[in-house]
Amino acid sequence: MAAPPPEPARPLTRRLLVRDLAQVVSPAGRGAPLRGSQLGAVDVVERAYLLCEEGRVAAVGRMRELPDLGGAVEELDGRGLCAIPGLVDCHTHACFAGDRVEEFALRAGGASYEELHAAGGGILSTVRATRAAGENGLLEAVSRHRAWMLRAGTTTWEAKSGYGLDRETELASLRAIRDAGGAATWLGAHAVPPEFASPDAYLDFALEEVLPEAAQLAEAADVFLERGAFDALQARRFLTACREHGLALRLHGDQFTQAGAIGLAIELAARSVDHLEATGDDGVRALALSDVSAVLLPASALFLGRPMPPARALVDAGAAVALATDFNPGSAYCESLPLVCSLAATQLRLTPAEALSACTVNAAHVLGRAGRKGRLAPGFDADVVLLDAPDWRHLSYHLGGDLVRGVLLGGQQAELR
Ligand code: NIG
Ligand code: FE
Repeated sequence: MAAPPPEPARPLTRRLLVRDLAQVVSPAGRGAPLRGSQLGAVDVVERAYLLCEEGRVAAVGRMRELPDLGGAVEELDGRGLCAIPGLVDCHTHACFAGDRVEEFALRAGGASYEELHAAGGGILSTVRATRAAGENGLLEAVSRHRAWMLRAGTTTWEAKSGYGLDRETELASLRAIRDAGGAATWLGAHAVPPEFASPDAYLDFALEEVLPEAAQLAEAADVFLERGAFDALQARRFLTACREHGLALRLHGDQFTQAGAIGLAIELAARSVDHLEATGDDGVRALALSDVSAVLLPASALFLGRPMPPARALVDAGAAVALATDFNPGSAYCESLPLVCSLAATQLRLTPAEALSACTVNAAHVLGRAGRKGRLAPGFDADVVLLDAPDWRHLSYHLGGDLVRGVLLGGQQAELR
């Protein structure tokens, strides 16, 4: 057999020029998180180019000012496309096996999410499927979900464990998330599995037997603080122990009831409190005065037919607001941040610019990645979404539209499946 041809010499600098773009758009400035009127400030360059070098954004400018680049540059035709930063999904439960289509059909017929949970369905039915999947099955599932997210323009993502709730499956979940390229969060306190008689008995086990290794795999810990799950005392115990092991803290809070999540998040200097569909004026004021981000999940509120979170009030009061999908099989079977941006405009009264910043810069801040992710500015990672639209605001405007024409990851075209 003939020897393969020699590899072409690799250029010294790996460069990609996306030329003739209709627009290149990025949240303004370099700080994070963006609050108040800053959230809606975006830079828009019309008839533009975007130059990537060695995986980073090297320059953005107008085509007519494109300098002579010299040397080898790969080119991509951007005609008819708008470039926005790769989207950042800071709250998903992408590590699960099976689905809950049966439950979905029951809910469509009138059953409530909380009733199904209390009857041993809901989260616990996904726990049964996830425990049965095995480590390879879990990696396959996360990789499949990751491909869906990428197809929708998500280039940086977080995913939580929380459907194992035993030592082996929780640790396998965190490994699968990490191996698939996600930021792993240990949702060690999601529900009480059937083999434990009480939340405290389960927490004794989780903190003793799982936390030490989970802390080596995860970046953050999360708890479902809610009636029927864990109360504020149990959440404090769980989060305090996790913080001692070096994990950043997140909370699922105020989804159905106000049960003390915001106060606890502020007391423990958590990164975020997520959901907030039941949050009132006091919670809005407290968050606005704090460094805790408010992560809003309108796809989940829509999917469960719940009230929307007070997004406008939070932004106007100066809270650090991020948007995410909450992608999971029960309360938000939706991996699309573009759809979330549409819901932000139509249900949360956020402008397209506010929505874009909330699921790029501010979401990157929640994940501790705002120095590299969430902007198309020199020095940031060249993670880019190319939208098939004449104006970038179609991201919010085109409800459920098929807008993502291409994705760059670190300056290289990603394969979309
Ligand atoms: O964020 N509320 C708790 N956890 C998830 C739902 C998980 C599920 O239903 O499987 C959420 O909505
Ligand atoms: Fe969630």
